[in-house]
Amino acid sequence: MSEVTVVPPSTAVLVSGGSRGLGLAIVTDLLDAGLKVAAFARTVTPELTKLAEENPARVYVGSVDVTDEKAAQAFVREAEKVLGPIDGLVNNAAIGQDSLHVHTSADQISKIIETNLTAPLVLTRFVVRRMLAQGVRGRIVNVTSICAQRGYPGLVAYSATKGGMDAATRSLARELGGRVLANAVAPGFFASEMSAVLGQTQLDAIVRRTPTGHLTEPDEVVPVVRMLLCDNTNINGQVLVIDGAASI
Ligand SMILES: NC(=O)c1ccc[n+]([C@@H]2O[C@H](COP(=O)([O-])OP(=O)(O)OC[C@H]3O[C@@H](n4cnc5c(N)ncnc54)[C@H](OP(=O)(O)O)[C@@H]3O)[C@@H](O)[C@H]2O)c1
Repeated sequence: MSEVTVVPPSTAVLVSGGSRGLGLAIVTDLLDAGLKVAAFARTVTPELTKLAEENPARVYVGSVDVTDEKAAQAFVREAEKVLGPIDGLVNNAAIGQDSLHVHTSADQISKIIETNLTAPLVLTRFVVRRMLAQGVRGRIVNVTSICAQRGYPGLVAYSATKGGMDAATRSLARELGGRVLANAVAPGFFASEMSAVLGQTQLDAIVRRTPTGHLTEPDEVVPVVRMLLCDNTNINGQVLVIDGAASI
């Protein structure tokens, strides 16, 4: 009989963009579940600082721009000194968009692609190399978006980056041969600083076409992220949509 490859649950997870919104909800949930968490954002919020002060042995936080490759790598090295090997990665940090494509400058398009696609791929490369070098089996969860699968005006470059991460997730899963599981969650719209640009008319329209009758809540996304990091499943290379069937 061939040997079954089992990737154990993550114990120390790096969450990019863990300072607010969905990222902070993921950090909080993983801590509640007993995991160790490293989290960064460009600005460390009082909420994230509080979590670090309350759990000094289990939380490592820092101010890092995900597009600064050297700073992100230094953060991972320092986090591992405190928490041990990182065996889970949640690529959550991203910037939004609120401009028609014809009104979006080339510089703005580049910034969205650099933050939401290039930087997470570069960070993933670094973390996976360390996992493999340290003999750690790990899990990756990419936070993408329903925008990767359905069209929304004002989100052309943003949607392209999320579609890119969905595609990368599938190829990573094949490339990593089961030593690291790679999946994505694709939430529908939820209230956050990023989505604050949506007007009430747009929000009402999304709710009207959602069978479950409400916008997605971060609290409805975090259990799925935790499941992908912690449960013994054979889910690999998948994009799990969490939007109450708004997009169906
Ligand atoms: N909100 C929605 O409706 C929605 C729907 C589907 C998917 N999503 C996805 O869900 C994830 C979280 O979104 P959210 O709504 O919670 O957004 P948010 O409230 O704007 O939070 C974004 C997080 O990413 C960090 N971040 C942004 N740029 C960064 C950079 N260059 N370097 C490091 N950290 C950076 C932010 O902190 P700093 O600004 O301090 O760096 C913050 O911690 C994103 O991947 C987003 O695309 C959101």
